[in-house]
Order: sequence, then structure tokens, then C-alpha cells
Amino acid sequence: MRRISTEMFFRAANPRLVALITSGSVEEPNAMAATWHSPISFDPPLYGVSVSPKRTTHSLIRETRSFGVNLLPYEMVDSVHTCGRISRRERSDKLELAGVKVFSGPDLGVPLVEGAYTSLECRLVREIELGDHTWFVGEVRSVLFEGTEKGVIDVSAMRPLLYLGSDLYVTVDPESVRRGRVRKGKGRMR
Ligand SMILES: Cc1cc2nc3c(=O)[nH]c(=O)nc-3n(C[C@H](O)[C@H](O)[C@H](O)COP(=O)(O)O)c2cc1C
Repeated sequence: MRRISTEMFFRAANPRLVALITSGSVEEPNAMAATWHSPISFDPPLYGVSVSPKRTTHSLIRETRSFGVNLLPYEMVDSVHTCGRISRRERSDKLELAGVKVFSGPDLGVPLVEGAYTSLECRLVREIELGDHTWFVGEVRSVLFEGTEKGVIDVSAMRPLLYLGSDLYVTVDPESVRRGRVRKGKGRMR
């Protein structure tokens, strides 16, 4: 291993699932790419996303006090990347340009992305300024999911999109799926 600058720590934490964070309204929606997002709590169900105050998304989340988290298949890489490199400040037709279509979420009417395999509608419950980003915490109010009853994605049918850094994306190899076993010592496993 090689020691690198602490400024690059986030790159060293890749690959990560990349999401489109949606905000605004269905009539005037916005979407930005985000890799800094995470589930936080089972009960209440909470989800967090770290957004720079420079993003249009930041002011939209504050205005509507809601946001969407959309996980997209690998095939939608260019749509996601466009939403991650162009701000709605520069291009009001950003979503059209990216080829992203939205529909109204069932609980809050948050714009959600067509073609996502997971979409969460979140109501903003807290925001915490941490360094140069704001950690927006949302209570998950609806979940749309394209997976099995057990909540597992069939990765041979739906390949998740991950970000490697430096404009590079990757997905998973369905052949690599295996069940984890707990090591019991002396070479035995359960
Ligand atoms: C793969 C990828 C991941 C990103 N992750 C984040 C993130 O987690 N938080 C953030 O504030 N910006 C992130 N960005 C940058 C925003 O997506 C980008 O600045 C976007 O243009 C903001 O759009 P908006 O101004 O319309 O909200 C990411 C960009 C890319 C390409």
C-alpha cells in the first residue's frame, strides 16, 4: 500500500453506489449525482445525503423539505454522469439533456426517476453542516423497489451502478455472487 494525500481520502473509499438525488417538484424537477449517501436508522427509517451548498439541489431540498434517492442500473451511466457534471444553474433543461424522466412519488409527490431499481421518498427531518457539505437527513416515507421479497437485487437482471472516481464507473459481476459463511475456527464454517 502507498500513503496518499488526505485530500484524496474519498477516492480511496470508492467504489460506491451512485445515486441520483431528486428535488424540486415534478413540474420543475432537478437531479444530481451523489456517492456520499447512506442509510442511517431502521426505526425511524432514516437516510442521509451529503450535499455541497454550491449545488442547486441544496437550496431545493431546503425549500421543499424533501428529496428522493434513486439507484440506477449501469445502463443509465451517461444520464447519471450528466446530472453529476452539469448544474441546473447552467442548464435549466438539464434533465432533458441527461435523458432523465421523472414521476411523482406516492407519498410526498417528490420527483422520482423512471428506470431506477430503488427509489426512496424522504421528508427532511434534520440538516447538519459538516465541513464544506450539509448532511441532509430524511425520514423515508415511501420505497419503490425492483428486487426480491427478501429485498435482494437480482444482479443478473439489474446491474447496479457504482462510481470508481475520475469519471469511471463499474458494475458487479453476477458470477461472483456467493453466500457468506461465518468462520467457526479450526477451518470449520457455518
Ligand atoms: C459520480 C459523482 C458523484 C457525486 N457525488 C456528490 C455528492 O455526494 N455530493 C455533492 O454535493 N456533489 C456530488 N457530485 C457533484 C454534483 O452531482 C454536481 O455538482 C451536480 O452538477 C450538481 O447539480 P445541481 O447544481 O443541479 O444540484 C457528484 C458528481 C459525480 C459525477
